[in-house]
Amino acid sequence: MLTKKIEWHSHYFHTVSSTMDMAKDLLKQGHTPPFYVLSDQQSFGRGRYERQWQSPKGNLYLTLVTPLKNLESAPFYAYITALSVLDAVRDLLPNIAHSLTLKWPNDILLNSKKTGGILLEIQDDKIIIGIGLNITSHPQDTAFTAIHLCLTKESLSPQDITSAITQQFDKWQGIFEEEGFGPLKFYWLDNRDPKHQQVSIHPNRGEPGECCNNEHQIQGRFHDLDGRGCLIIEEIDSKGIITLTKHSTGDVFFI
Ligand code: BTN
Repeated sequence: MLTKKIEWHSHYFHTVSSTMDMAKDLLKQGHTPPFYVLSDQQSFGRGRYERQWQSPKGNLYLTLVTPLKNLESAPFYAYITALSVLDAVRDLLPNIAHSLTLKWPNDILLNSKKTGGILLEIQDDKIIIGIGLNITSHPQDTAFTAIHLCLTKESLSPQDITSAITQQFDKWQGIFEEEGFGPLKFYWLDNRDPKHQQVSIHPNRGEPGECCNNEHQIQGRFHDLDGRGCLIIEEIDSKGIITLTKHSTGDVFFI
């Protein structure tokens, strides 16, 4: 497959509240996608479920905005983006390529610790994709242990990683448009963190900003992804009866 060369317009800032909000402001001002917003730091970076995303200088704070052909394809952008970030970082940091994996739904891990996260929002017929990648530092106080990419002397500039991510995004979006979710699913499964064997999933039906909803947590074995990207977990009860449950959202922990 030949990757279509997409012209991404860039908007670069030293500081913004959140690249997600800046992307929405730019849409309001009439900027047409595809474009991206890159900032050195954020004063109110946010993660999934309205959690705070610490955003000091040195890490990547990037939002991509692209047209969404139909609402049904929105969940697949979590996979398009996660695979793009994985391939981009692997290309730029070959020394740690083999230690990079994915955690459902769309976290990037290094040595089974979180080094990057993705946030998807929809506005009209556009998808707004936030990508945070810990490059030179990581937060200490997170529910899932964090890590940063450049642990030794190597360095990675946010500009270089952005251009690698947009190239990979064009590639994976092209594959998805031509062949559907199948190839993305298999690549994701091949690259999922091996600690996925036994997991607990916290559905997060709680308050914005809440860490996890322990009351509704489900524990079981990783079974598969379905055709829409939902996680299928195998629960075994005390009598040994196996039930398969499907999850479209939530936080996964390894147990
Ligand atoms: C997660 O919770 O794992 C997703 C984190 C997404 C953080 C990125 S940083 C760039 C963009 N701007 C934000 O405010 N959030 C996303």
